[in-house]
Amino acid sequence: MAKIIGTGSLIIDLTGYAPHLPVDGETSLGNSIKIGPGGKGGNQINAASRAGAEAIIISAMGNDFLSNVIRDHYQKEGLSTRYIKTIDGAETGGAIIEVNEETAQNRIIVVKGANDLITKEDVLEAEKDFADCDAVLTQLETSMESVICCKNLAKKYNKPFILNPAPFQKLPEGIIDGDIDYITPNETEAEFFTGIHIENADDAKKAAEILLSRGVKNVIITLGKQGVLYTDGKREIKLDAIKVNAVDTTGAGDAFNGGFAAAIAMGYDIETALKFANCTGALSVTKFGSSPAMPHKEEILALLKKEYGIDLEK
Ligand code: RIB
Repeated sequence: MAKIIGTGSLIIDLTGYAPHLPVDGETSLGNSIKIGPGGKGGNQINAASRAGAEAIIISAMGNDFLSNVIRDHYQKEGLSTRYIKTIDGAETGGAIIEVNEETAQNRIIVVKGANDLITKEDVLEAEKDFADCDAVLTQLETSMESVICCKNLAKKYNKPFILNPAPFQKLPEGIIDGDIDYITPNETEAEFFTGIHIENADDAKKAAEILLSRGVKNVIITLGKQGVLYTDGKREIKLDAIKVNAVDTTGAGDAFNGGFAAAIAMGYDIETALKFANCTGALSVTKFGSSPAMPHKEEILALLKKEYGIDLEK
């Protein structure tokens, strides 16, 4: 089975669903509130695993009741907890999420908590799993030293390194360079990293060129309702967003990234991998929550066939 490893955040999501999101100073009446496992890293690993890969997270939680929600979920999903450490005195990461029921769009405040305390040594403990993996996947919701260590190990073992640079934050000099095989910002993150205001695929192309000029080998910019743009400087692929009945867009980017990493790890070509990821992202917004909303391989394969006429079961 194709194997993916990387540092990733484990976060408890507290999500409120309301027909109207409040402005400053306003209290808005909602219809439901849910607590569940999330975190960009946790969601992506969960998506990759449901998409058919062995997906291993290196992460951290506090020794508090919130961590049990994540532990229970990991157990149910059969996901590895081997490299998840518990840090006494630290808080499990948490997110406050507001979802607009009319548009399915979300707003998030995330606190990294224990995820920020993952050390280089924690990552090095998993070195043998980097040596025989098929892809390394990480985001910016854990400590910077853990991300850099993943990047270095991917280089050492010549494995594809996928960086989802989310949520946006200022990066130390030299992080965005030729050792990144795939960078996958959304339009907001791409804008922050390049200074190009992105409203459409042409703007995204300009932003991608800047990232390519820094050495990154492949740039994938997700554009929400406008789909996704890929370029390596020679070839360009633009996919439209797949029309679905969206109820909650939280974690859509994570589903895309997890599906993409799984497809790359399984050895699919770039166009198939992007289409696989696009289907994974689209299916995730048809369900509530983040990690629990990730689609299973059978659903992804069925949508791939319907949408693109690709039959991976052959
Ligand atoms: O991308 C969605 C995720 O961002 C949520 O699950 C939340 O935990 C935040 O990290």
